Amino acid sequence: MNEEFNKAEEILDQIKSAEPTNVEELENFRIKYLGSKNEIKPLFSKMGSLKPEDRKAYGQLLNKLKNTAEERYNTLKPALEQREKQAEYRDIDLTAPPAPIKHGARHPVDIVMNRVISIFQKMGFLLAEDREIEDDWHNFTAMNTPEDHPARDMQDTYYLRDFEGLLLRTHTSSVQARVMTSAKPPIRIIAPGRVYRNETISARSHCQFHQVEGLYIDRDVSFADLKQTLLHYAREMYGPDAKIRLRPSYFPFTEPSAEVDVYWGLESETDKRITKGTGWLEIMGCGMVDPQVLENCGIDPSEYSGFAFGMGIERQALLQYRIEDIRWLFENDIRFLKQFHPAI
Ligand code: PHE
Repeated sequence: MNEEFNKAEEILDQIKSAEPTNVEELENFRIKYLGSKNEIKPLFSKMGSLKPEDRKAYGQLLNKLKNTAEERYNTLKPALEQREKQAEYRDIDLTAPPAPIKHGARHPVDIVMNRVISIFQKMGFLLAEDREIEDDWHNFTAMNTPEDHPARDMQDTYYLRDFEGLLLRTHTSSVQARVMTSAKPPIRIIAPGRVYRNETISARSHCQFHQVEGLYIDRDVSFADLKQTLLHYAREMYGPDAKIRLRPSYFPFTEPSAEVDVYWGLESETDKRITKGTGWLEIMGCGMVDPQVLENCGIDPSEYSGFAFGMGIERQALLQYRIEDIRWLFENDIRFLKQFHPAI
């Protein structure tokens, strides 16, 4: 054995016994034995100085060197990289609570509307939803609102420019006409939905808002039934001690008509302000369905009578959540919306 063989065997031993323990040491290993200036390369140039009969064995030895280095590199690499990655995670506190998942929140109008709906559903009212784009007949004519009534004025109603006779409904009372012309009494429905009026937008009023309409038609329905139904509603919504009062009023489609106030209280300055010093808050309009309306919708007023009511939802939402400005309800500011309960 000559010097060249000894040198090669020495390097082979080094390759076999090298124990890189991290990615950096492995890289040094690679540079040393596999890089462009590796230690095996110079051994090849010694080939010429060997006896011809030794050259084959020498060549094979050098190839073995190269292959051994490659093999070691390829087996160590994934193991060391894996170890490195695990080290990165070692400092993570697995007992720390996770970042909370962001749930959406229900809109306050939706929360209040769902509560109203469920109170009436428990009394046997069926849900009746209908279109927001209505015709003049269902919104006004059927509801006994004469042609020259100010509510029909262009000021209050949004008419569809290119569709004559179509408008954005100004109240959910249009659903009364829809139901009465398509169902036979007894009828007991609640109709929630969005309504539109051409009003100046301010802290107290908006050009779009929500109502829940109620309609009950059967034989011998009386004003006492109406009052009792509304009292029950107020107690469910505002607590067992809730008080209501009915003030005589006027609507073209009910006779007699009333406005309903719920007692809010006068304890704080805010109470005084929102009830204008009276302690009472108006929450809806109601009355006995005008016989003319029944007739318009094909129901015999000599056989049937009924009551109807329509309440505003925003008003009640503002009260319940002490929101100062109705415009907050329509601006979709995430900081506002995320304060409300996610479920229900
Ligand atoms: N439609 C009326 C309004 O929008 C409310 C109402 C409904 C009154 C049903 C009486 C009966 O103001």
